[in-house]
Amino acid sequence: MNKLFERKNRTGPVLFSEYEKGSAVKKALLTDRDDILLEIRESGLRGRGGAGFPVSVKWMLTAAANSPQKFVICNADEGEPGTFKDRVLLSEYPELVLEGMIIAGYTVGARKGIIYLRAEYSYIKDFLQSKIEEMRSDGNLGKNICGRKDFDFDISIRLGSGAYVCGEETALIESLEGHRGEPRNRPPFPVNTGYLGFPTVVNNVETLASVPHIINKGGEWYHKFGTGKSSGSKLFSVSGDCRYPGVYELQWGITIKELLDLCGAENTKAVQIGGASGICIPESEFSRQISFEDASTGGSVMVFNKNRKMIDVLQNFMEFFTEESCGQCTPCRIGNVKLLEGVNMIRNNEYSLEYIEKLKELGETMKIASKCGLGQTSPNPFISILNNFKDEIFGMN
Ligand SMILES: Cc1cc2nc3c(=O)[nH]c(=O)nc-3n(C[C@H](O)[C@H](O)[C@H](O)COP(=O)(O)O)c2cc1C
Repeated sequence: MNKLFERKNRTGPVLFSEYEKGSAVKKALLTDRDDILLEIRESGLRGRGGAGFPVSVKWMLTAAANSPQKFVICNADEGEPGTFKDRVLLSEYPELVLEGMIIAGYTVGARKGIIYLRAEYSYIKDFLQSKIEEMRSDGNLGKNICGRKDFDFDISIRLGSGAYVCGEETALIESLEGHRGEPRNRPPFPVNTGYLGFPTVVNNVETLASVPHIINKGGEWYHKFGTGKSSGSKLFSVSGDCRYPGVYELQWGITIKELLDLCGAENTKAVQIGGASGICIPESEFSRQISFEDASTGGSVMVFNKNRKMIDVLQNFMEFFTEESCGQCTPCRIGNVKLLEGVNMIRNNEYSLEYIEKLKELGETMKIASKCGLGQTSPNPFISILNNFKDEIFGMN
């Protein structure tokens, strides 16, 4: 194995477990497409890119679309601050990702797959390309895969454009088409009108990497991990004030306290779950579970100890969103600027609590009025940090 990408003795229930290269593709291609959809449905697999949309539904809708051409896109933009688990999958478990794409292609009737790779990960591109070529020579990519005359599939890699919003699936598609990376109006959804106007599955790297294990061991096996509503395992990118930062594969349902113990965090004041656009959880809520139904995350877990000032954390997040808003819709373009202004007012002791309450209301409006997930989630840290750390923040002046 390439020295740059050597594994670090990781183990886990699903993704970081043993896997025989090519085995899932072989098995899937001997299976009826409808049976694959049933298996994925039974697994309960939901998208790992943040929104948690059921994979079986997305694939079923794309499979049902009547079109001469379809696409599978692997969303490897990994732009959420504090997230770095897709990088580990791409560089240490590339076969899982590629095989997940092939199985998706077979199931929905696509012949082309594209990996939209974050530009900052360009150093992984040649390695991934070599894995694609290996798969071609093994007969798992290209024409008549595994000897099936009715299935051709190939994968290409395209580099992202360095904008956070390009991780949003419709902005990603715009960017792939050579346009400015701005979200589209929905409907129509990519499952019907996606890349170049054709039905398109867009899935996160981790979502696709989970598929080969489900094909090999079954949906029922996979569903036994996790909480039921959040089935399977989850990769967490743990960073910040802890002794053992890194990527952990754990089951959904683990509590924040348990995760903090595992990563050697001490003296913890707050945990930001779900990246900058997630929520900030105070110590009194560390018994909460990490799951879709409680504290949800696409993978990012940032730990802040008692030496941190939460107003600094908030300022950092709001500066990020102000910078990254694509500017297309007013609630996000203006709203983030107003929220950042509010943070600076607090810093300079030039605020009234009434005005801060108004800004929180603005945040609630942004959640429903913004065009895409960026502006719909960017008020989360503003609201949760000001609510959960009000003594520290408003008592500091
Ligand atoms: C601003 C923004 C950035 C996003 N960035 C990513 C990303 O980097 N990677 C990703 O997989 N999903 C990202 N998403 C979510 C995608 O729009 C989409 O839901 C996801 O790729 C679908 O795959 P999944 O169902 O497998 O999670 C982002 C969404 C928004 C609103």
